[in-house]
Amino acid sequence: MKLFLDSANLDNIREASDMGFISGVTTNPSLAAKENVGLMGDYKSLILEIATMVDGPISVEVTAPDFQGMLDQAFDIAKWHKNVVVKLPSTIDGFKAMARVAGEGIPVNQTLCFSVNQAILGAQAGVAYVSPFVGRLDDGGHDGMNVVEDIVDVFGFYDISTKVLAASIRSTLHCLNAAKVGADVATVPFDVLMQMAHHPLTDAGAIKFLDDWKKVENSKK
Ligand code: E4P
Repeated sequence: MKLFLDSANLDNIREASDMGFISGVTTNPSLAAKENVGLMGDYKSLILEIATMVDGPISVEVTAPDFQGMLDQAFDIAKWHKNVVVKLPSTIDGFKAMARVAGEGIPVNQTLCFSVNQAILGAQAGVAYVSPFVGRLDDGGHDGMNVVEDIVDVFGFYDISTKVLAASIRSTLHCLNAAKVGADVATVPFDVLMQMAHHPLTDAGAIKFLDDWKKVENSKK
């Protein structure tokens, strides 16, 4: 399973990339707004800066609610950088836009996906990624990971090439389970990524190794 960083924070993206953990980035209007980025215009500069740090897919979401607005933005965004993936929502206008944009050979990330049926519809349009939102489904009393697992199974059954991107990841357990059910990618927040790297036994073991080695060095003095 590949890992993307779900963030628009340049410091976090640089650090995660330097650690060798991530092969892509997902952004959305909320994440961009958190970094005080004015939508469009500055959003582009932010994405181009991210592209200098990560040589992999960078998802950029449209902000228009209607079909024509989505199309205009999608075709513009697609020209920003070769690694850009256009994020389109699983709304009626969004599905229509997916078919047009993916039909032009532009990679699309189907976002705000909450059901297997929505994923099946996106796959008909030829999207490159579908993003089931695990955490938000869990918040609503559903089993988000079950939706990811079902999409993986259905796509496998029909040999569908759309990649399953587990999104709205809130914990290391989400990430572990996304890997277990066969998600192609998980996009994770920075704090979850860092938690994945840590284990108390690693920290304790590293301290003990260094202490024991110091004893060897001291005995030579
Ligand atoms: C995915 O691409 C979205 O940006 C993201 O995972 C949404 O996560 P949230 O539910 O924590 O906002």
